[in-house]
Amino acid sequence: MIHDFVYDIPVKVYFGTEQLKNLGPELRKYGTRVLMTYGGGSIKRIGLYDRVVKEIRDAGLELYELSGIEPNPRVASVREGARLCKEHRIDVLLAVGGGSTIDATKWIAAAACVDHDAWDFFDYKIWAPVEKALPVLDILTLSATGSEMDSGGVISNPDTRDKHGRMHPLLLPKVSFLDPSTTFSVSAYQTACGSADMLSHIIEVYFNMDQDLYMLDCVMEGLMKTIIKYTPVAIREPDNYEARANLMWASSWAINGFVDGGKQQAWSCHPMEHELSAVYDITHGLGLAILTPRWMKYCLDESTVSKYVQFGVNVLGISPEKAPMDIANEAIERFASVLFDSFGLQRTFPEVGIDESHFDSMAEKAVQGGAIDGFRTLKKEDVLNIFQMCMK
Ligand code: NZQ
Ligand code: ZN
Repeated sequence: MIHDFVYDIPVKVYFGTEQLKNLGPELRKYGTRVLMTYGGGSIKRIGLYDRVVKEIRDAGLELYELSGIEPNPRVASVREGARLCKEHRIDVLLAVGGGSTIDATKWIAAAACVDHDAWDFFDYKIWAPVEKALPVLDILTLSATGSEMDSGGVISNPDTRDKHGRMHPLLLPKVSFLDPSTTFSVSAYQTACGSADMLSHIIEVYFNMDQDLYMLDCVMEGLMKTIIKYTPVAIREPDNYEARANLMWASSWAINGFVDGGKQQAWSCHPMEHELSAVYDITHGLGLAILTPRWMKYCLDESTVSKYVQFGVNVLGISPEKAPMDIANEAIERFASVLFDSFGLQRTFPEVGIDESHFDSMAEKAVQGGAIDGFRTLKKEDVLNIFQMCMK
C-alpha cells in the first residue's frame, strides 16, 4: 500500500565550484563564534582548509577548531567537540569533510546542549532525548553517506564495540556546500566505497514488496543507473567534474528522505554492516558491498522474484524475455560484478580480515535481540547464514 508521508527536507544546498563566497554570510546568520570540525587532514592537502579559514576570517567571525575526527567517528571526538563548544560558547558548527566528520559534528551539536555524557544518546538502555542542538553547516568532501542532507549520524564506541546510528530533525544541516571539485582527491577505493554506500541506501528502500509509488521507483532506478555509470569514470579520471557532480548529487538524494515516500520497512544490510565496522573498523561502504549481493541471494524466492526482475531489467539492462528466476539470478551476479569488477572492491570477509570469531555477537547485536523487519524478516540465524555466505 502507499502509506501517508511527510516530505520535509529543509537543507539549503549550494552546489558548484563558486559557492564558498556564501559561507561567511550563511554562518553569520547563526552567530559569530564558529567551531570548524574536520578529519585527518585531507582538507589541508587539497587547499580547502585555507579557503574556508579565509572566508570565515573575512566575514569577521571568530574561529575555533576540532581536527582529527576519525573515519567511523568515535564518541571521544563528540565529547571533545561538546567540551569545546561549552568552553568557547560556540554559536554554530561547520563540518568540513566526509560523512564521519559531518556525523560527529551533528552529535557534537546535540551534546553541547546537555550535561550528560554523549554516549547516553546512543546507549539503547538510556536513549537520552534530543531536545536542542546547535546549528550545523557543512562542506562535503566525499560523496557517500548523504549526511549532508539527512538528519542522521552514526557514532562508534570502541569500549563497548558498538556502532549506533540515530536520527533527529534538529540535527539536519542548515546549509550544505557541495562542490564536486573537492572530491577530485578522493581515492579510487573511497570513491568505490562511497558509491557502494549510496547504492545500498537506495536498495534498502527499493527492495520492498509493498505496492509503492511507481514514480519513486523510477527515481531510484535513475539514481542507481547514475551511480553505476559514473563511478568507474570517477575512478578512472578522478578530476572528471561531470562524474563527480553526478555522484555528489546522487549521494544526497539517495538518503535525504525523498525516495522513502512513506515506506515503513526497516533496513537490512546497514544494521549488519554497522556490526562489522564496530568490531573490525572497516569502511562502511566496503562492508555493504560484501554483504548486499549475499543478502539479495538469501532473500530471493518466488514471493520476492518480481522485485529482482524489475531491478535486473530496469537498472541492469537484462532482457525481460527470460524466465523471472533466471533474470533475478543474473541481476544478482551482474550487481556483484558492478561492485567487485567495475568498482574494484574486495569480495569476501577473509579478504578484509574478518573471520568467524565474532559472528555470534555481531548477529545478536544486528537483530537487537529480535529480528530485522526488512525486505525479508531476518532473525539471528539468518544473519549468521548471510555472514557465512560472505566467507567465500
Ligand atoms: O579524515 P580525512 O583526512 O578527511 O580523510 C577522509 C577519510 O580518511 C577521506 N576523505 C574525505 N574527503 C576526502 C578524503 N580524502 C581525500 N580527498 C577528499 N576530498 O576519506 C576517508 C573516509 O572518510 P569518511 O568521512 O569516514 O567517509 P564517509 O563519508 O564514507 O563516512 C562514513 C561514515 O558515515 C556513516 C558510516 O557508518 C561511517 O561511520 N554513515 C552515515 C550515514 C548518515 N549520516 O546518514 C549513513 C550511512 O549509511 C553511514 O552509516
Ligand atoms: Zn550507508
